[in-house]
Amino acid sequence: MLEDKTILLGITGGIAAYKSAELARLLIKEGATVQVVMTSNAEKFITPLTMRTLTGRPVYSSLFSPSYGSATVHIDLAREPHLVVVAPATANFLGKVSSGIADDLLSTVILAVKLQECPVILAPSMNTAMFHNPAVRDNIALLRRRGYLFADPLSGSLACGEVGEGRMVEPVQLVELIKKELAKSARADYSGLTVMVTAGPTRESLDPVRFVSNRSSGRMGYALARAAAERGARVILISGPTALEPPPGVDFFPVESAREMYAAVMDKFSLADVIIKAAAVADYRPEEAYGQKIKKGDTLSVKLVRNPDILQELGSQKGDRFLVGFAAETENLLENARKKMTNKNLDLIVANDLTQEGAGFAKETNKVHLIFRDGHVEELPLMLKSELSHLILERVRAAIG
Ligand code: CTP
Repeated sequence: MLEDKTILLGITGGIAAYKSAELARLLIKEGATVQVVMTSNAEKFITPLTMRTLTGRPVYSSLFSPSYGSATVHIDLAREPHLVVVAPATANFLGKVSSGIADDLLSTVILAVKLQECPVILAPSMNTAMFHNPAVRDNIALLRRRGYLFADPLSGSLACGEVGEGRMVEPVQLVELIKKELAKSARADYSGLTVMVTAGPTRESLDPVRFVSNRSSGRMGYALARAAAERGARVILISGPTALEPPPGVDFFPVESAREMYAAVMDKFSLADVIIKAAAVADYRPEEAYGQKIKKGDTLSVKLVRNPDILQELGSQKGDRFLVGFAAETENLLENARKKMTNKNLDLIVANDLTQEGAGFAKETNKVHLIFRDGHVEELPLMLKSELSHLILERVRAAIG
């Protein structure tokens, strides 16, 4: 399963370091090449000789050692692996990585690893109180958002005598996680590509407390952003207000109104190879956004004026970028979607029949037709938005060649 795979095993200074020897052994048994990098504190718990004997390779620990052939060993080590696992990862180490501190070989290597090409799994191990300390919680949350993966610690008896959360996961479980991640990155067919996704509704302000909006939840766009990141893309997610957490590893740009979304999209679209406009942009906004709360009277008339059509503008400037639009319709699905495709110069349109059971806004599933530039139509069954996202990305990848 792990033949031809090189795994960098980082070991930091926690008592669970003794389990790293077992982890190295299991990985080697699966056919992997294991390269160990230890911190100097890790060497107090387990000797480099143990790790060298198990892996059959030199163990690195110092940033500057005359015995290394290369002066840039931190970069060489970062380029080599298919996956990095740091087990155990101490609170101190998580703090350093989240702050970008590179004051020893292992933290420097981690900083030099390109997350889009090489997954990094961190396996925390520490006392329960330390694990729940807000500083550690914040560091973990930040690292997750940046795309680092976590092997969450288990509950059990700890070396300090306490019982609670903080025990490093067992080596066998780590091996399973490593296999799963490597299987995922085997389909990294978007590595080297940038995908821009827009998502969610927009809010058009009427006064300081009221706005005009729509029922979009952002689920489709967020699922697409997550799927593109899983396939190795650099993802730019521009989103109107939603209740969702941005998927890990994406560059996230929150906006409110259609005009803000327009500005953000125009600012960034030149970076993208593929642009997917899943956002439900409000076509109209109140002509006037009142500075004070509007007081009630018998009636209120609000004049709505047109917002910019972001997708149309992109269609006219897209060059050879691949442009995917969505069409949300309640009647004449294919005919209306085809019109949008032509008017907005799209390469693919995802046509959404809002009258279908399980389709459209605020659901976990969707039922769509894909219409391609050459007129070919693919009718898809009801599927989870996560599955649909991968299918759309597969079709786009095949089309861009
Ligand atoms: N879109 C956009 N800017 C707008 C309106 C829509 O970029 N001001 C994009 C959406 O993100 C979507 C596509 O255009 O990808 C189609 O949106 P939809 O609301 O279905 O269609 P409209 O073009 O607004 O047409 P209509 O509302 O008349 O159906």
